[in-house]
Amino acid sequence: MHIAVIGTGYVGLVSGAGLADFGMMVTCVDIDENKIKRLKKGEIPFYEPGLDILVIKNIKAGRLEFTTDLAKAVKNSLVIFICVGTPSLSDGSADLSQIKEVALSLAEVLDEYKVIVTKSTVPVGTNRWIKQLIDNNKKTDAAVDVISNPEFLREGNAVEDFMHPDRVIIGGESAYAIAIIKDIYRPLYLAETPFIITNLETAELIKYASNAFLATKISFINEIANFCEKVGADVTLVAKGMGLDPRIGAKFLNPGPGFGGSCFPKDVKALIKQGRQLSSPFKILEAVIDINDRQKIRAVEKLESFLGDLKNKIIAVLGLSFKPNTSDVRESPALTLIPVLIQKGAKVKAFDPVAMEEFKRTVGNITVDYARSPEEAVKGADAMVILTEWNEFRFLELPKIKNLMKNPLLIDMRNIYEPEIVKKLGFSYAGIGRS
Ligand SMILES: NC(=O)c1ccc[n+]([C@@H]2O[C@H](COP(=O)([O-])OP(=O)(O)OC[C@H]3O[C@@H](n4cnc5c(N)ncnc54)[C@H](O)[C@@H]3O)[C@@H](O)[C@H]2O)c1
Repeated sequence: MHIAVIGTGYVGLVSGAGLADFGMMVTCVDIDENKIKRLKKGEIPFYEPGLDILVIKNIKAGRLEFTTDLAKAVKNSLVIFICVGTPSLSDGSADLSQIKEVALSLAEVLDEYKVIVTKSTVPVGTNRWIKQLIDNNKKTDAAVDVISNPEFLREGNAVEDFMHPDRVIIGGESAYAIAIIKDIYRPLYLAETPFIITNLETAELIKYASNAFLATKISFINEIANFCEKVGADVTLVAKGMGLDPRIGAKFLNPGPGFGGSCFPKDVKALIKQGRQLSSPFKILEAVIDINDRQKIRAVEKLESFLGDLKNKIIAVLGLSFKPNTSDVRESPALTLIPVLIQKGAKVKAFDPVAMEEFKRTVGNITVDYARSPEEAVKGADAMVILTEWNEFRFLELPKIKNLMKNPLLIDMRNIYEPEIVKKLGFSYAGIGRS
């Protein structure tokens, strides 16, 4: 089976390499020439554990190749996976311009039956619109079937998630196209991964509802954490006590500096927008976004409560990616927090194990002093803020860190340290939801 994967970002590259590993002949397409040049040499353009091994293995096996030539890739393939970006527009709705461009390019080159599979996260109704766009613009009478096959991989664990997903969602109307996609995923079917076969709209909404629910869980526990601080409760034990109820579950009950990443914020906003358009408002999700926006600058309140005015204070920020094990900084709490600190006159020294280059590229010329290690970041600092729970921040040599700092203050936005232990070492400490 020959497959084209259009868009070679986190989802496209992992899916392309994963499908090649299932035994398919995969051509990955991107408009970014530099990315394709690097991929041809087996270089991965972003940090994702284990992906380099999978890509190189499948290039060597002759099952995975890369090109900027969409027409050629499509011509040779029965199934085309669309994996391009669907970022937020300023009004919160999903920007479908990359999807539209791909659909029109497909219409241009379509010469025989193809199955078009949308893996990108797209608002309900988009797959029908894609089919219409292709049908209205195609140059031949070749037929297309459209399938919605949303992706649930998590950055930082993407390879494992693609190879062993919790579920595979296939939405479509053509039994023939659905059978083809089921066949592609046969290794997962044989491994008893649950498959849900449904219509296009249901498949599209499963993705949004899943992300919206997870984001709600995070904002919920963040509000509980903030309340804990007022009443003297400990959120880590509240979450543990709640999570032992199987109806609630322990996952995604970790308070922190707010959710970020390329999915939760944009997907929740897109669902809110579509709900409003259809007079079916998502009041709960509007609150989820509000809470999250406030949570991203909670570290400022905590810093000010210890240090007063932040003018000329040196703040070490550890962690720039939105979560560990990724170089992705899209919507990361650091992107919101650091400009606020600078606006208040603070000097920011930052360190991240892999995301500093990406962060620099994203923020442009704001003045941040990038350090080569946590120790270099905290040297002379008035406070250290932990924003991302990278493993290397869990085992800092705190006595050494204390000696390097001007003022030993730890703002632990991920609750990775035990307050009593840290205080015994002579630090002032504030976590989240631990009064
Ligand atoms: N990143 C995740 O963790 C994740 C998880 C599940 C679903 N998703 C969804 O998957 C989609 C892709 O996300 P991503 O993080 O991989 O995006 P990304 O920005 O990392 O990658 C998108 C790629 O598409 C390429 N592209 C854009 N227009 C193109 C065109 N016309 N032809 C060929 N290539 C083109 C870009 O150059 C880029 O390399 C989004 O809808 C996202 O919501 C993402």
